[in-house]
Amino acid sequence: MTRWTSIDIKPGTEAAPTLVFAAGETLHAPGALRDRVAALVAAAGFEAKPGRWLDLVGEDRVVVVALGSEDNPDRWRSAGGHVVEAIRSLQLKAARLPAASDLGVGDALADLLEGVLLHGFRLDQGRRDPVPGQFASTLLIAEGDVPLAEQARLRADPVNRARAWVEQPANLLTPAIFAEEAAAALAPLGVTVRQLGPAELEALGAGGILAVAAGSANEPRLTIAEWRGAPEREGWDAAFVGKGLTFDAGGLNLKPRPGISKMKFDMGGAAAVLGAIERLALRKAEANVVAVVPMCENNIDGKSYRPGDVITSLAGLTIDVQDTDAEGRIVLADGVTYAIREYDPDAIVDVATLTGMIMGLLHEDYAGLFTGDDALAASLSEAGAATHEPLWRLPLVASMDYLVESPVADVSNLGAPGWFGVGTGSPVAGSKFIEKFAKDRRWAHLDIAGTGWASRRSSRGGPGATGFGVALLDRWVDLATGA
Ligand code: BES
Ligand code: MN
Ligand code: ZN
Repeated sequence: MTRWTSIDIKPGTEAAPTLVFAAGETLHAPGALRDRVAALVAAAGFEAKPGRWLDLVGEDRVVVVALGSEDNPDRWRSAGGHVVEAIRSLQLKAARLPAASDLGVGDALADLLEGVLLHGFRLDQGRRDPVPGQFASTLLIAEGDVPLAEQARLRADPVNRARAWVEQPANLLTPAIFAEEAAAALAPLGVTVRQLGPAELEALGAGGILAVAAGSANEPRLTIAEWRGAPEREGWDAAFVGKGLTFDAGGLNLKPRPGISKMKFDMGGAAAVLGAIERLALRKAEANVVAVVPMCENNIDGKSYRPGDVITSLAGLTIDVQDTDAEGRIVLADGVTYAIREYDPDAIVDVATLTGMIMGLLHEDYAGLFTGDDALAASLSEAGAATHEPLWRLPLVASMDYLVESPVADVSNLGAPGWFGVGTGSPVAGSKFIEKFAKDRRWAHLDIAGTGWASRRSSRGGPGATGFGVALLDRWVDLATGA
């Protein structure tokens, strides 16, 4: 079972150090404390730069946390992270947050609490020996702020669940376990979850998923999660398709040593679309959205599919497998086909840790956005800007169709080599491949290979799995449906 923990937030009046916030000359602190704290801050020569805090030990212990300037729209969420860092570094079992009204921050407190929950995230693997100095911490809030905490939890929990799945090692998160856990998380919220196993995939003719999964002892699943929040409306506003490779060894085109251990993260797209469905369900969004999630493992075995194999996809298009490590596009092809056939959605967005090359281009800062639809590009970009999960659009044009041509089949899974082979593995070729299956649909592809895992802190969390896409897709649904 995938478990995680974060800072516990609850109302309470027990004695505990009080947190206040300083930005430049502004002090967000309850009136009764303000003068004393301002004098101590001045006496200490404390410069309120984000990431710093001042521990005023005394009869009424106060911790002053620096807050970013007003031109940073994400400053409260980020400050939530610094609250976590302060609490942990000072080894506080409890700390108190003054009421939003006393701090004079209004609803920004929800952002702050969301930041606390996002930055407080820790995968809980269970250990026999506890880590010295590591314990659960509680953030005490005012009774009147409980609704804001509730709002923060609705936003953060699906992101943290997605992160926990991404960080969970592949031996503990097989496709079958992933599918079970997704159902267990979503079904109680009113989401209809179905799972197709090998026999059903065989009967369906999902040759892509089956080929990729063939070399693994762990059976594949196709998980389908439906959120029908606008039942009075017919049809489906959107389908999200997420790449769910619980491990990507590369198959017979085995990955070289560095990097292979990170490939437990190759289901980040799947986690993102499932997290988005969870958020839609939690907030009862008035939209009809389905997530279609191929889950499998790409491994090396006598039963593995081979480079040079020609396989038949669910769509009936034949695929020339030139590289068994370009497996994501193959399972997404079947996922996209399934979504079109069963749901006829108004729009399709697929999310995938598709290419290593996107990391060399956009690093951990932007996800690659590929679509031929300008309006869809605009709405997705707007959503990403709003949730601080930015997208960068790259070309996807008809003149590049040759990238996925094959001499023997309908489509090749390896892009044209380009100059000295430098183009092999390009994210554009990967998108071109998926586009073949999306046909003339409104469709976009997000390559999150770079943004799915962070090596540094951001306003949304610490190092590790990011849950990139959860908040973005949730926000985008409102833009797409005009809610
Ligand atoms: N899951 C990987 C993408 C990836 C690679 C993410 C490195 C993060 C770091 C994907 O399945 C893959 O192997 N892509 C290949 C495609 C190539 C063989 C056409 C790649 O990017 O090298
Ligand atoms: Mn691969
Ligand atoms: Zn992969």
